[in-house]
Amino acid sequence: MSGSETVFTVEATPVKYGSGAVDEAGWELRRLGVRRALLVTDPGVAAAGHADRVRGAVEAEGIEVVVFDGVHVEPTLESLQAAADFARDAEVDGFVSVGGGSAMDTAKVADLIVSHPAPVMEYVNPPVGGGRKPPSPLRPHLAIPTTPGTGSEATTVAVLDIPELRVKSGISHRHLRPHQAVVDPELTRTLPGEVVASAGLDVVCHAAESFLSKPYTSRERPASPDDRPPYQGSNPVADLWSARALEYGGRFLRRAVADADDVEARGAMMLGATLAGIGFGSAGVHIPHACAYPIAGLKHEYRPAGYPTDHGFVPHGLSVIVTSPAAFAFTYEAAPSRHEHVASLLGHGATGPEALPDALRALMRDVGAPERIRAFGYTEEDVPALVEGARKQQRLLTIAPREPSDDDLAAILRASL
Ligand SMILES: [Fe+2]
Repeated sequence: MSGSETVFTVEATPVKYGSGAVDEAGWELRRLGVRRALLVTDPGVAAAGHADRVRGAVEAEGIEVVVFDGVHVEPTLESLQAAADFARDAEVDGFVSVGGGSAMDTAKVADLIVSHPAPVMEYVNPPVGGGRKPPSPLRPHLAIPTTPGTGSEATTVAVLDIPELRVKSGISHRHLRPHQAVVDPELTRTLPGEVVASAGLDVVCHAAESFLSKPYTSRERPASPDDRPPYQGSNPVADLWSARALEYGGRFLRRAVADADDVEARGAMMLGATLAGIGFGSAGVHIPHACAYPIAGLKHEYRPAGYPTDHGFVPHGLSVIVTSPAAFAFTYEAAPSRHEHVASLLGHGATGPEALPDALRALMRDVGAPERIRAFGYTEEDVPALVEGARKQQRLLTIAPREPSDDDLAAILRASL
């Protein structure tokens, strides 16, 4: 180690944005040198017609398409392995994902395993998995998001659920970042308001957590660039992306939820998701996302409206936003003016420790999101297990502006009950 970090990096997926952009999917894949593509999607997205539209655009460029529509809404080791096996058997030389974070993350992992074969678990972040790093770039991956949320098209991360260990974890490496994103607001027209609400609240958290993460200079400089963490802490360039995403969240999320035909608002949230993805891909997320892993992972009894699934689960955005007011009340003292700045970017001009929590609660209320983790089936008795699950995300907690102890995490979770 050689003192404080002096270096930060910001990387972005090349983005093509706009109405009708999706019709250029084939052109993009051809440019990337793909001749036989695996189209990774889920049944809901396929039923909405988006997968067919992309398939048509890709085949029009003379590229063969094999469809995998078995994406699990919350990917598991098994569902990811199934996608990887399918991709290997299909002998594809590239990937196009069409869907939300689950589809894009499934394509990332299938690409990883096909490019550098190994059991999925070997690549999962330690301490849950082996933390293996892919030795060279993967096959081309064109990501086409259909929800204005995860920003997965812009990030190096794939999230997965490991029910046996009752934990969510992930794989993160720069080679997992898609080679190109195509972001087309028209694809959100079929989305129920509830899905837009959850996805948009995720965007707001990505941006707020990134903007408020510990400055990159507060880490120690790693011995080798290999050891620089993917989540580096806030820096002037990541801040630009996060700030614009927060502004869009404050201005457009309510409208995007209320009216499926408000293309301006839904388009702004699509773009906001990508902007936030670029920001948090550099700076990183912390307490609300660390708490979200066990909130989504421990109980599967919540039945969200608007999602085409027959099993209970907590949509990612809801699992994240629900602890954010308490989390930011806790971190306020580390950087008061930056917390107030985030509140003002969201359109809330107040000052003091409750300014940002109030802004977030108002947004949750206005888009119909549950404001308490009790809504997902949790009680006081679950707090220790939730703390334990959040603690497993030490990689995230370490970039919080004020690092929480287990007692602090318990207090945040209790305040969110
Ligand atoms: Fe997220």
